[in-house]
Amino acid sequence: MTAQPTVTLELDDIQAPLLHPRPSPYVGTLILVRVEDRRDGRELLRRLIPFILSAAGSPDAKRDAWAAVAISFQGLKALGVPKDSLASFPPEFQHGMAARAEALSDIGESAPEHWEPPLGGPDVHLAIYAVAPDAPRLDAVLGMARAGLRDVLGVAPIWQQDTYMLPTERTSLGFKDGISHPAIEGSGIPGTNPHEEPFKAGEFILGYPNENGVLPPMPQPEVLGRNGTYVVFRKLQTRAAAFRQYLRARATSRSEEELLAAKFVGRWPSGAPLVLAPERDDPVLGADAGRNNAFLYAANDDARGLKCPLGAHARRMNPRDSKIIGVARMHRIIRRSSSYGPMLPEGVLEDDGADRGILFVGLGANIARGFEFVKTQWIDEGNFFGTPDEMDPLVGPHDGAGRFTVPQQPIRRRLTDLPRFVVNRGGEYCFMAGLRALRWIADLDT
Ligand code: HEM
Repeated sequence: MTAQPTVTLELDDIQAPLLHPRPSPYVGTLILVRVEDRRDGRELLRRLIPFILSAAGSPDAKRDAWAAVAISFQGLKALGVPKDSLASFPPEFQHGMAARAEALSDIGESAPEHWEPPLGGPDVHLAIYAVAPDAPRLDAVLGMARAGLRDVLGVAPIWQQDTYMLPTERTSLGFKDGISHPAIEGSGIPGTNPHEEPFKAGEFILGYPNENGVLPPMPQPEVLGRNGTYVVFRKLQTRAAAFRQYLRARATSRSEEELLAAKFVGRWPSGAPLVLAPERDDPVLGADAGRNNAFLYAANDDARGLKCPLGAHARRMNPRDSKIIGVARMHRIIRRSSSYGPMLPEGVLEDDGADRGILFVGLGANIARGFEFVKTQWIDEGNFFGTPDEMDPLVGPHDGAGRFTVPQQPIRRRLTDLPRFVVNRGGEYCFMAGLRALRWIADLDT
């Protein structure tokens, strides 16, 4: 008998993309908007609201489109949200991503002074993100957004990023992504790992108890905070050629090169996890949604990381039952990331200069305990599993002297001189309000 959920979610008030899976493949576009006049900003919101689906509809990913609206702290200000409400948002959200750069190790090439304008500036107010199974259906949704913008003079689109997911679901470093998703109690949507207990809704949606059994603080008034969540987006440029060159230089054969790359990620290019396929890729497993995330680490006889290194990207990002300092479940993130830019053709080792990577999108009810914790403790450091001087080998902000330990017998392998494979081109913290909250903002008369 399955346990009854202990919570009833107000699905008709929650923006669908928080809970619903996306189509595969898909195309998407993120549009950032500056609000110059608060009344016009509210008018734009009023026009967008009818097109935002709630999570009460069918979670069938094959439906037409998937659109979301989120607002930065500067955006809430620009829309005239009252001061006491603004003050009720958590400090990291109020400060914005650029102001958090030092804490997040967004330094050197990833520092805000090198970000792509207007990212990191005060003009990023509204984020409209749409995803659809094909270009005509995406154009239909974007047409609606553009029509909403056309004759409202006090709002201006200031940046656009087109994104996509290939039918293989592989992103620019060559690996299938977007496999592991947590289940949320009350959503009715299963997670991808049958061995992972569903999460209390308050981990991802404001207004419900979280894993600590408490109702987390929520922006006020309640109508503004309830059923909302925080969105972290970052344009992460990947250096695919540098990644390939690094592996080629360290491997003595193509199969060793593939194995080393898989050790960086924790999965093979097909998505097959190392824990279940330790020696070679298993495309049938990688393609099987029922099996490709059905694993733990210690329980699958890999407490020491001989199959999947403790420092592999996916294992760091969700250590599951690995022995770590802290509790892995307290730092789970919902990901809605996408590819951008052309893929580097297979076999090419020279950089072609193209801008490519991932538009990382992470959702959760607590930026500090979710994204910021994961970035600072699990990506930029290795204390949590006893390797303090190693960062995430794939996405860590290496300066050319990074290290990555691959446990193996009889002696471990240590990779050195890791360069930076991922550069942050900019991002922001936004609030993805519930639909009632969007109407509340649209109806303000401040
Ligand atoms: C360009 C940068 C990145 C690349 C290429 C990348 C790639 C991948 C890949 C291939 C996977 C395995 C697929 C899956 O389990 O769904 C994965 C998993 C994951 N990544 Fe990343 N990632 C990047 C950045 C990030 C960042 C910045 C974060 C968080 C701050 C993150 C968090 C995660 C999480 C939570 C998982 C799921 C782990 C699991 O549940 O097993 N990733 N990533």
